[in-house]
Amino acid sequence: MSDITRRDFIKIVNRILAGTGVGILVAPVIAYFYPASLQETPAEPIRVGKVEELPENEARVIKYGRYPTIVLNTPQGLRAYSAVCTHFACIVKWNKEIGQFACPCHAGFYDPLDGHVISGPPPRPLTSFPVKIVEGVIYVGEKT
Ligand code: FES
Repeated sequence: MSDITRRDFIKIVNRILAGTGVGILVAPVIAYFYPASLQETPAEPIRVGKVEELPENEARVIKYGRYPTIVLNTPQGLRAYSAVCTHFACIVKWNKEIGQFACPCHAGFYDPLDGHVISGPPPRPLTSFPVKIVEGVIYVGEKT
């Protein structure tokens, strides 16, 4: 086995640092083309609350799986979407003033009725979940 000289050691360290630097530069590019998909679906429906507790044009955030989900009462009925932005997985919020879901990270906007992208960089609509009312109580998800 040969001894490693100081020059060899410096070369090895430089190669490691160069490889790490390339990784730091390449990771955002990979994340852009293969955006976040983080949602898990729980086995049981999640109780949101009583219907009268969610007035029209109001939203409530619940935990559905590991991530937050927004339940919105629209004039066309209840909707539930993953709050995880399909761009880089920031958490979107309901913006009542403009009537859209807004992502604070890169100005992505989503439609409240079907979750499609209105503007900004998100590549896909928000993930939607089934909503149902049972005896005056709102539930998100289906029994599997
Ligand atoms: S993470 Fe939402 S627009 Fe970029």
